[in-house]
Amino acid sequence: MQPIKQIQVSLGDRSYEIMLKAGLLQSLNNILNAFCSNRAALVVTDSNVEPLYGEAIDRIEHCNYSKFVFPAGEKYKTVETVAAICRKAVAAGLDRKSLILALGGGVCGDMAGFAAAVYMRGIDFIQLPTTLLAMVDSSVGGKTGVDLPEGKNLVGAFWQPRLVIIDPETLKTLPVEELRNGLAEVIKYGMIRDWKFFRRLEKNSTGLKQLDLDFYTRIIARCCEIKAEIVSRDEREGGLRAILNYGHTFGHAVESLSNFSIAHGAAVAMGMAAAAELAVLLRKIPGNYAERQNSLLRTLGLPVRIPPGLEPEKIYAAMLHDKKAVGAKVKLVLPVAEGAVAIIDDLDSKLIIRAVRNCCD
Ligand code: NAD
Ligand code: GLY
Repeated sequence: MQPIKQIQVSLGDRSYEIMLKAGLLQSLNNILNAFCSNRAALVVTDSNVEPLYGEAIDRIEHCNYSKFVFPAGEKYKTVETVAAICRKAVAAGLDRKSLILALGGGVCGDMAGFAAAVYMRGIDFIQLPTTLLAMVDSSVGGKTGVDLPEGKNLVGAFWQPRLVIIDPETLKTLPVEELRNGLAEVIKYGMIRDWKFFRRLEKNSTGLKQLDLDFYTRIIARCCEIKAEIVSRDEREGGLRAILNYGHTFGHAVESLSNFSIAHGAAVAMGMAAAAELAVLLRKIPGNYAERQNSLLRTLGLPVRIPPGLEPEKIYAAMLHDKKAVGAKVKLVLPVAEGAVAIIDDLDSKLIIRAVRNCCD
């Protein structure tokens, strides 16, 4: 039997572990023993995940838990849902020593984490991610928050979980488009930090397409190690952590201009293609390196061309509204070598627009 893989996120007295193993949800009762005993807990989950994995929670014996189930989907990632979670916490008798468990994808984790950050000025929470995106990205690092009608993730807090429990078995029920959203982030890790890892993905693309869970367990572990290292060095995104946004500034612009009809992973894939194209125009990388990235994205079913109807000038204008833009300057993460990126500001707007145009159909 495979041992549980444990990865440490080192943040002084807020350090925590990521536990990873296929089938881990079956052992939830034992794992949570140390955390839960004699504490009231609120499990937050969504309407898709609860019928699939709610019974794993039902087996917890050590704590007095209640459940809050919200309708699945980004449109419920709101201040109103967080208020409802907090009200449920009051009704269920949660106090300052209590615990919130987030069972679900990134929407659930961001929202339950934010509720934990603000309920009674902050209580413990545990992440139980069930999407690939949440396993490799959103459950680690402590960014929590909700959307406003004016934009995504505009209200939030840094609030680290006490533990992250990852069971890749849950990927078996994940719709393929959701798996692809996560794969875009997985490829991102190779591009920003680990070229050897990128080559492993290239070599094993069949395993990725066929949901080989052994391989997934190993790649999720590597992504978590990379994210843990980055977050441990720069928790509040003073510098280094921004490299995790590779492809995202272009991607968010594409996503919002398409009125979210283009999925996040697809938009990030297009964003990585545009960032690589800009790096080629700036002579930071050769064209065949950009093509290598794009080829892996395509192989895994992700698009690298921006569909008709999205004009490059409008994409650039939308990029200026990105939360991470400073004043009228767009700060971009661009590839500069195999498995390495740099954060570059001071970029010529015309060149950015040209790079986007070169990626448009
Ligand atoms: P999601 O939480 O909406 O999950 C996607 C869909 O999959 C939902 O319909 C959900 O019900 C369903 N689902 C979840 N697990 C399932 C399973 N095992 N089987 C079947 N269906 C399942 O979306 P997501 O892609 O996980 O997360 C996106 C969110 O994460 C966005 O709000 C984004 O802003 C946020 N995010 C946060 C961070 C961070 O650092 N905090 C990083 C990246 C993304
Ligand atoms: N997903 C980007 C970050 O955690 O910083």
